[in-house]
Amino acid sequence: MPYGQRWRQHRRLFWQHFHPGVIFKYQPIQKAEAHKFLGKLMESPSRLTHHIRTLFSAIMLKVVYDIDVASEDDEHVLLLDDAMEALSLSSHGGFLIQRLPFLRHVPAWLPGAGFLKVLARSRAANHRLKHEPFDKLKASLERGELHPCVAADLLARKEAKDELDAVVDEDDLLKNVCTITFEAASDTSFAMLQAVFVAMALYPDVQKKAQAELDVVVGPTRLPNFEDVDSLTYVHAIIKEALRWHVEAPLCIPHCTVEDDTLNGYFIPAGTVILPNTWMISGREMMHDPDAYKDPDEFRPERFILDGKLDPSIRDPDAFAFGFGRRICPGRYMAHASLFMAVASVLHVFDIGLPLDERGKPIAIKYEQTHGLLSYPEDCRCSIVPRSSAATSLVLDALRKLPPTTT
Ligand code: HEM
Repeated sequence: MPYGQRWRQHRRLFWQHFHPGVIFKYQPIQKAEAHKFLGKLMESPSRLTHHIRTLFSAIMLKVVYDIDVASEDDEHVLLLDDAMEALSLSSHGGFLIQRLPFLRHVPAWLPGAGFLKVLARSRAANHRLKHEPFDKLKASLERGELHPCVAADLLARKEAKDELDAVVDEDDLLKNVCTITFEAASDTSFAMLQAVFVAMALYPDVQKKAQAELDVVVGPTRLPNFEDVDSLTYVHAIIKEALRWHVEAPLCIPHCTVEDDTLNGYFIPAGTVILPNTWMISGREMMHDPDAYKDPDEFRPERFILDGKLDPSIRDPDAFAFGFGRRICPGRYMAHASLFMAVASVLHVFDIGLPLDERGKPIAIKYEQTHGLLSYPEDCRCSIVPRSSAATSLVLDALRKLPPTTT
C-alpha cells in the first residue's frame, strides 16, 4: 500500500492498539500462551516448529478476534501457512510471472504453471482469513456476546462514530487492519524464536548464563513474569542478539521513493524501488557490520551489556530488524513482549541442546538462513528436556491454572 491517506488510516487504527502504552493489556494472553507452549514442548519436543508457529498465531488470534486455538491443527493457523506462501515466493522476483506478465493467461494444468495453483491457494486463504473470523465475531457481538479484542474494539468505535470518522465507516478497512496484524505478527515472531532455539543449541554457555540469571531473579518456585523484565538483562540481550544475528528480513520490505533524491552523489529518481540490505551494505552499517559488532557471525549477547546493564552505546538492532522510517514495524513493542515471555519461560524450565541421533549421540547442526522475503533458520532441530523434576512440576502447575477458553 503506497504512502497516503488510506495507509495512514490503517496505520492509525493499528497503532492505537499496539503502541507501548497499551500493549500491557495483552500480557495475560502472552503469558497463558507461553505456558501452553511449555506444555506442548514437554509433550512432543520434536514438533518444535509446529509449536512455535501455534504459539504466535494463538497470541494474535486471541488478541485480535478473541479466538482460542484449541486444537493442534487449528484451521486459522493452517490458513495462515497458505496465505503467506505466495507472499514469500513472490518476493524478490520468485515467480517468473512477475517478469513475464503474460504468463497469467496460461492454463493452470500446463507443466510448469504450478505457481498459478500457489497463487490461487494463497488468494483463497487470504480471502477467508480476512472475512471469516471478523464476520463470525461481528455476528457474535450482535447476539450480545462479549469479546474483549481488537476487532470488537474497532467495531465499537465504528458504531460510536467517534474519531474514526466517516472514511473509516467500512468493515473492509477494519478487516484489513485485523488480517495484517495477524499475518505480520505470526510469521516474523515464529522465525525469530526458531533462531533463539538454534542459538541456544549451538551456544550452551550463553544458555547457562541466562539460566543462572533466571535462577537468581525468578527462583525455583515460579515461572517468569512481566515484572521480571528489568531484572533479566541477559535474557533481554539474547533477544537483541537474536534480532541482529538472524537477519530475518534481509532485504526488508521493498520501499519506493516518493520524490527525486540524491545519496552519496547518486541521483535516485522518484518511483525507484529501494531494497535496504539489512545484513550489511558497502558502508558496513547494519546488522553484521564488524565495526559495530565484533565477530558478527558469533551469537554473543554480552556485546549489549556493560556493568550488568544494557549498554545504550551499542547500536540497537531494533533500528534495522523492524524496518525503516514511517513504515517501521508498528508491532515491534508487541513482538518484544511476546518474545520475552516465551524465551524467559523456556530457558527457565528447559535445557536446549543439539539434536540426538538414534543412539543418543549429538548431531552437528550448522546455522544457515533460508532465502525469501522472510528468512528462517534452515535447520532448527534440537533436543529439549526439562531442567529438573521441579521444572516439570512448574509447567504442569501452570497448565492447571490456565483460564478457561471462550471459544
Ligand atoms: C520479531 C518480530 C517482528 C519483526 C522482525 C518484524 C519486522 C517487520 C519489518 C521488517 C517490517 C517492514 C517495515 C518497513 O517496510 O520498513 C514490518 C512491518 C509491519 N509489521 Fe512487523 N515485525 C515483527 C513483529 C510484528 C508484530 C508482532 C506485529 C503486530 C502486532 C507486526 C506488525 C507489522 C505491520 C502492521 C507492518 C506494516 C507496517 C506498514 O507498512 O506501515 N510486526 N515488520
